[in-house]
Amino acid sequence: MSCLREMRLDDLFTFNPLVFDPFTEVYRIGFFMRHIAQWPELAAASTAPDGRLVGFIFGKFLDGVKDNTQQHGHVCALTVLSDYRRLGIASLLMNYFAQMLDLKSAWYVDLYLRCSNSAAYNLYCALGYEMRRVLLDYYPGDPEENAYDMRMPLSIDVNQLSLALASKEPVRLPLEDDSDDDY
Ligand SMILES: CC(C)(COP(=O)(O)OP(=O)(O)OC[C@H]1O[C@@H](n2cnc3c(N)ncnc32)[C@H](O)[C@@H]1OP(=O)(O)O)[C@@H](O)C(=O)NCCC(=O)NCCS
Repeated sequence: MSCLREMRLDDLFTFNPLVFDPFTEVYRIGFFMRHIAQWPELAAASTAPDGRLVGFIFGKFLDGVKDNTQQHGHVCALTVLSDYRRLGIASLLMNYFAQMLDLKSAWYVDLYLRCSNSAAYNLYCALGYEMRRVLLDYYPGDPEENAYDMRMPLSIDVNQLSLALASKEPVRLPLEDDSDDDY
């Protein structure tokens, strides 16, 4: 059993067991603080009955400046403590995230994941996300690793335009372009 609530700044003192996982993206502390301050409803925690943090999601909302159909949410980080996996916690966090974006009239949610992360790939496919394109050498390292860019239309996008219009060509993103760790 677990509960869902917004992340709090003091959660950052206790979340180390969650971020020490090879597939969990780790950002600077300023990244998490900015997310909690700017998009509190898009930073959610799952807790065990004893109050322990067992999962979290962090994301952002990007306004379409000229075109409403570009309004979307982006999942920056999602993780579940290893002992609590396959219990539906990630699905709960992802569904909550999509509901929050529906309330903002966002058109779609997107996210990036390592091509080798088959658990996450299966999760996102099960939730209705589609692989849109490959981001070449997106993850730094030796060697670098490609990412899948996945996307799911939200309720407002009844004709799934956000999938139909999106380019499917592999791309190498410029460093500053849509980077999750941009502050
Ligand atoms: C990926 C991750 C978030 C999944 O969390 P979870 O709470 O176990 O996921 P759920 O219980 O909601 O799983 C829902 C569905 O996703 C798929 N899935 C999840 N984990 C899977 C795995 N290890 N292997 C295959 N399919 C998997 C299954 O279809 C599952 O449904 P089922 O259990 O009925 O078969 C978790 O494994 C994790 O934290 N991994 C490390 C961090 C990470 O990879 N984050 C994502 C970065 S993009």
